[in-house]
Amino acid sequence: MKNAKILIAEDNDLSRENLAELLSLCGYDVKAVGDGKEAMDALLEQRFNLIITDLKMPNVDGLELLKFAKETNPDNIVIMITGYGTVNTAVDAMKLGAFDYITKPLRDDLVKLTVARALSFASLKEENVVLKDHLKDKHDFGKMIGYSDCMKKVFDTISRVSSSDSTILIHGESGTGKELVARAIHFNSDRKNQPLIPVNCGAIPEELLESELFGHEKGAFTGAIRTKIGRFELAQGGTIFLDEIGDMSPALQVKLLRVIQERDFERIGGVKTISVDVRIIAATNQNLEKAVIEKKFREDLFYRINVIPVHLPPLRERDKDIEILAHHFLKRFNQLSKKNIARISPEAIHCIMRYPWPGNVRELENLMEMLVVMKEKGDIELSDLPPKLLNYTNAELSNSHMDLPSEGINFNEMVSRFEKDLLLQALRKSRGVKNRAAKLLQLNRTTLVEKLKRFNLHEGDSAWGNDA
Ligand SMILES: Nc1ncnc2c1ncn2[C@@H]1O[C@H](COP(=O)(O)OP(=O)(O)OP(=O)(O)O)[C@@H](O)[C@H]1O
Ligand SMILES: [Mg+2]
Repeated sequence: MKNAKILIAEDNDLSRENLAELLSLCGYDVKAVGDGKEAMDALLEQRFNLIITDLKMPNVDGLELLKFAKETNPDNIVIMITGYGTVNTAVDAMKLGAFDYITKPLRDDLVKLTVARALSFASLKEENVVLKDHLKDKHDFGKMIGYSDCMKKVFDTISRVSSSDSTILIHGESGTGKELVARAIHFNSDRKNQPLIPVNCGAIPEELLESELFGHEKGAFTGAIRTKIGRFELAQGGTIFLDEIGDMSPALQVKLLRVIQERDFERIGGVKTISVDVRIIAATNQNLEKAVIEKKFREDLFYRINVIPVHLPPLRERDKDIEILAHHFLKRFNQLSKKNIARISPEAIHCIMRYPWPGNVRELENLMEMLVVMKEKGDIELSDLPPKLLNYTNAELSNSHMDLPSEGINFNEMVSRFEKDLLLQALRKSRGVKNRAAKLLQLNRTTLVEKLKRFNLHEGDSAWGNDA
C-alpha cells in the first residue's frame, strides 16, 4: 500500500525524525507528532492506515492512545514502540488490540517489514469487509478463512451454488478444507435446518459401505438382526456428503448412479422402493478424470457428480493466507489452552511462509497447536519451529528452486529476499566475519559490505549469529 497514511507519535525528537524519514523514503505519507494528545487530535481529523506510537510519552501515553484509536475506529491498526525492559507492557498492548510491537533500538529492516505487514493486513481487512458486504445476510462461511484470489473464487462459487440443489464435486489435496466447504454449502442452503450426513467412503470397508449408505432389512444377510436405516434415508430433506468418493467400489458406483438419476433405491434385502430428496456433495483428493481413463471410476458417474466442480488449491499456492491462518490458529489455541502467546516473530513467520505445507491447512493447524501447547510464554521464535521447517528453508536456499504460483510473484521482491537470505546465511556460517562470508558467496569484500548496507544488515543484528 504505497501512499498509505501513517501517523507517528513519539516524544523523542531524534527517534521521531529518523522514523519519519525512513518511512517517507519508503513512499508513505507520514505525519509525525510529539505526544499522545496531538496524536488524538490528528486521529479525530483524518483517517490513517497505520498508527505507530511510542509506549512511554508524557501526558497521554501509548496505551491510552491505543485505546483511543481502537475506540474511535476498531479497524485502526496500531504498532507499539517499546524501550528495553517494557516488553511486558508491549504484550499488554497486544492484548488491547495492537497489531505488533517493535523494540528499541529500532532496526530499519524490522521496522519496514513490520510496517509492510501491518499495511498488507489493513488492505486485506478492507477487502474482506467488501467480501462480507457482498455476501451479507445470505452467506456465512463461518470459520473458513481465505483472502487469496483463488480462495475468493471458491467463496464466490459457494455463494452461487448454495441455494441450488446441484450436485457438487469438491477436489483438493488432503487438508485443504474440503469438508469445511461442504459444510459451508449446506449451512448456506435452504436445507440448513435439515441434516447434513457425512459418509467417508474411504474409511468404511466395502462390504459395510453399501448397508451404511442404503440400509438393510432385518435378516437380509447373516448378522442383520434388525432393520438398519441407511445414510441416504437419514439425510432426507438435507445433504449427504460423500467424502473420498474415488475409493468407492465399482459395484457401489452403479448403485450410487441410480440414486443420483432416480433419487430412489431399496434397502439391502428390501423390496420397497424408497424415494429421497437429498442433495449430494462429493469430495475427493484423487484425480477422478485420470481414474476414469484408467477405468477405476465410472465415466457416467463422474459426469453425474461433476456438475459443479470446486477446486481447493493447495495451501502453498495461497501465499496471502498462510500468515493469516497461522495467526487465526494461534488465537484459537491460545483460547483453548488458556495461554497468552502474543505473537509469532517476523523470522518465524518468514520461515512458515516459505514451507510448502504438503499437509495443507491441517498441517499448519497442527503445528500451531503444538507450538502453543509447548510454549510456556513469550513469542513463537524461529528456534521453536520443528526441523522440517527450518531444514526446508535451508534446502530451498541450496537448490534455489521455487514453483511460480499461478497468481505470479513480485520479481524484484523475491530476488531481494533470496539475496538477503543468502547474505544472512553466509554471515551466520562465518560467525559475522565478513571476509569469510564474502568467500562463501564468492564475492569480494567491498561488494558484500555494499550489499549489507543496502539490506540494512548491521553488525550485532540478532539475525546474524543465532544459529552459527
Ligand atoms: N480456509 C480455512 N480456514 C480455517 N480453517 C481451515 C481452512 N481450511 C481448512 N481448515 C481446517 O483445516 C483442517 C482440515 O480441513 P478439512 O477436514 O476440511 O480438509 P479436507 O480437505 O477435508 O482434508 P482430507 O482430504 O484429509 O479429509 C480442519 O481442521 C479445518 O477446520
Ligand atoms: Mg475431509
